[in-house]
Amino acid sequence: MSCIPVGLVAEFLENPICLENRTPRLSWRLDDSRAGARQTAYRIVAASSAASLEAGDHDLWDTGKVASENSLDIVWGAIQGGGGLSSAVGRRGGGLETASPLPLRSRASVFWRVMVWDKDGNPSPWSAAAHFEIGPFAPGDIAAEWIGSARPRDKAGLPVPMFRKAFTLAAAPVKARLYASAFGDLAMSVNGSPAGADLFVPGWTDYRRRVPLVAWDVAPLLRAGENVLGAMLADGWFAGTMVWPDHRCHYGNRTAFLAQLEVEFADGTSHVVVSDDSWRYTERGPVRDADHYNGETYDARLEMPGWDAPGFAARGWRRAAVVEDRPHPALCGRIAGPVRRQELLPARRRTEPQPGRYVFDFGQNMVGVPRLALHGRPGAKITIRYAEMLNPDGTLYTANYRTAKSTDVYICGLAATKNTKSHKGFADSVSSVPENETYEPRFTYHGFRYIELSGEFSAPPECGDVQGVVIHSDMAQTGAFECSDPLANRLWSNLNWGQRGNYFEVPTDCPQRDERLGWLGDAQVFVRTAAYNRNIAAFMEKWMRDIADAQHADGAFTDIAPDVFPFENHGHCGYADAGVVVPWTMYMAYGDKDILREHFDAMARWVRWWERVAGPGLVVPYRGEGSWHYGDWLAVDCPVDEDGNPIREGAPTPTDLLATAYFARSAGIVADAARAIGRTADARRFAALRRRVAAAYRREFVTPGGRVAGDTQTGYLVTLGFGLVEDPETVARMVDRLAFLVESRDGSLTTGFLGTPLVCPVLTRFGRADLAYRIFRRRKYPSWFFQILDGDATTMWERWNSYSSRHGFGDANMNSFNHYAYGAIGEWMYETVGGISPAEPGFRKIRFAPVPGVGIDWAKASLLTRHGTASIRWRKSSGGRLAVDLVVPPNTTAILELPGQEPRELPSGRHAMAVRRTCVRRQR
Ligand code: BGC
Repeated sequence: MSCIPVGLVAEFLENPICLENRTPRLSWRLDDSRAGARQTAYRIVAASSAASLEAGDHDLWDTGKVASENSLDIVWGAIQGGGGLSSAVGRRGGGLETASPLPLRSRASVFWRVMVWDKDGNPSPWSAAAHFEIGPFAPGDIAAEWIGSARPRDKAGLPVPMFRKAFTLAAAPVKARLYASAFGDLAMSVNGSPAGADLFVPGWTDYRRRVPLVAWDVAPLLRAGENVLGAMLADGWFAGTMVWPDHRCHYGNRTAFLAQLEVEFADGTSHVVVSDDSWRYTERGPVRDADHYNGETYDARLEMPGWDAPGFAARGWRRAAVVEDRPHPALCGRIAGPVRRQELLPARRRTEPQPGRYVFDFGQNMVGVPRLALHGRPGAKITIRYAEMLNPDGTLYTANYRTAKSTDVYICGLAATKNTKSHKGFADSVSSVPENETYEPRFTYHGFRYIELSGEFSAPPECGDVQGVVIHSDMAQTGAFECSDPLANRLWSNLNWGQRGNYFEVPTDCPQRDERLGWLGDAQVFVRTAAYNRNIAAFMEKWMRDIADAQHADGAFTDIAPDVFPFENHGHCGYADAGVVVPWTMYMAYGDKDILREHFDAMARWVRWWERVAGPGLVVPYRGEGSWHYGDWLAVDCPVDEDGNPIREGAPTPTDLLATAYFARSAGIVADAARAIGRTADARRFAALRRRVAAAYRREFVTPGGRVAGDTQTGYLVTLGFGLVEDPETVARMVDRLAFLVESRDGSLTTGFLGTPLVCPVLTRFGRADLAYRIFRRRKYPSWFFQILDGDATTMWERWNSYSSRHGFGDANMNSFNHYAYGAIGEWMYETVGGISPAEPGFRKIRFAPVPGVGIDWAKASLLTRHGTASIRWRKSSGGRLAVDLVVPPNTTAILELPGQEPRELPSGRHAMAVRRTCVRRQR
């Protein structure tokens, strides 16, 4: 057994080739299962070619042996080392000073690896080599022009233009990078093959401020002689429908893209192809219409085989227009993983509720598109509709899509023009689709469990003709959870699918109706669970920039980011507070201090906004500026207006109370963040502010006897959960009152988006894990298990009663069956049922604190932290013992807290033990 560094990443990414940050952070973890494994020193070496690195010629960087346990986020060049500097480095001489890391030049290509010294001072072998490249972000690097079709996109229903550029290469390249960006959804190809596996390129940002430049390694697709670059450009987030049926072209009415192909040959020469008006385009291609909300229309008769390959006669194609009438933002690096196809699901069942309308069930509410083998004569029209639920008669329930048509239309083509588009990375998995016309919508996406096919088939579609392509942002699964209760396991699966369906470029509220927006409130309550489920470090780093881009000059964060509301939306408690909660959660989950440094001023400005609207009394007003809030959104008791929207005034939990509680919480987080990044004066100031706000909160909302204004479950939950009352006697009374409010309703919740995530964690923290488990495992409405038992839920629902067999569907006006907010229970499942949480930021120290509850005999949870996999499994054994098995990853330590036992400190490695079991029962 030995130690080896693995999982090398630059800026959270594996082998990225278009970094904007010229001093990227390098990280690795140790593969070392020995007891007490840890790193005592490391050495990073870097070279400008793979061969040099292999030969030990470290021409870019050699840190030498650095005595340090740290394996995360080591900034390029920040360690003085023995290595020389090469032309890839922006500045020569002067040495590599800790204080002033040397930036790399644009396009610098860096091959690096690392070795470490273990706990006994023995060196490891070298890690496998990793690679990163800096993108062309210096002024003048991009010579390409923004091109598009001549036609503005004001109207819906316009065809997707196709662009091509033929060029000749003297030889096959040794290296080729295709850089591209777009205002719209761009799909690029090289000699007829997709340039990369990414979809919805370049992603969604506030295009007026920044637009990502993406890159693909296309060397394997190029050859000596004639080559062709192809591009299709749909409206996407830039110009497609957004928010309302008639709200289009939010960022502009001219879609455009740029592309720059940079090719290097073996003899050291190079060749560049750029987008300009020499490219040709046509609007007579097969994609007749494409929109995220409404769907795609594809006429296979209009396919032009070979249009993006050499030898095609582009007759009648027009000269591309250089588009000046567009935003002029800075190009930025793509920080997060792209949206990609992730998985194929087979259709499990076919029904025919109406003659000729075939409904397929995937058995899982999912997000993406179908992949269909279709049979029809040329010109036959086939309509594809989507639904998350079925009506009692087996037809699609689509009312909850609101105005999103979410309908694709496929017109069959000639057999000769059979659609054989290849899906890079999926070649093997599609082989089960029968030879046929295969259609997979490209410029739209849907949220669905069921699809309906109808139209002029020559043979009715079978289950084998239908697959579901699951699409979402790339983010590796890190968490796993299982316990003896199958309903809890199903819930865990459901909340994972909620994240998969909605982490789509930005964390959206829902994936199916005419909304799909980056709501801060929903994201704020779910982010901790999300960070257990999957590695979202890069995803959230990107979204925090969207949040910061949307922040108002006065410090108010918005309701959604990117902000596309054509009306004012900012400063709402529990929503805007995501601007501080998200970076703090990222710091706790990944130890990422940079996200705190980058956003600290924005976070502080937000708290000052609270301070301003609250005024000298430090209580957020119930009238006037800063007084309107969503409150405890969708709380069960909320009275609703005639449109089914909760009425704010008179809603169970007073919104001024909630807002003041969030004010205190955000001030506290900003104080902690300041401390973490060494801003001591700020830390003191915000901590004092938090204390004063908490005192004001108590004066205004808490009676001397410990009653909280409004006397709602959520009122007690925020008061206790945010630590707004410290006096133990008052705390005890509040816990008792909270328990009463739950127990007197037979364990039923009255909480909404803001209160629900706190229920089980707060009850557990204050000695009522018994009640937490009772609520968690409740089967009657409203509860998590009710959705599964009564509604066969496979994702989280927007409302506790989005559907019930007794009352049917909830208000269609807002009735998503893929809404992750209530999935925030996931954090408690990992932390309390399983028993894993970070004791220190980034899991440098891990807290194992399972609370084995009544009715659960065993549980296991594991988490791939940045240091390696932490796992725990416990089982109640006969004789009143509890068997616990855990793994503490290398380079970390742990604290184990078991009910009724003294906490114990544990070093890295595997630990197994059996202890006397203490019943989880009421502790007060
Ligand atoms: C979204 C919610 C969001 C809410 C705020 C809804 O339309 O789907 O999840 O929190 O608006 O009002």
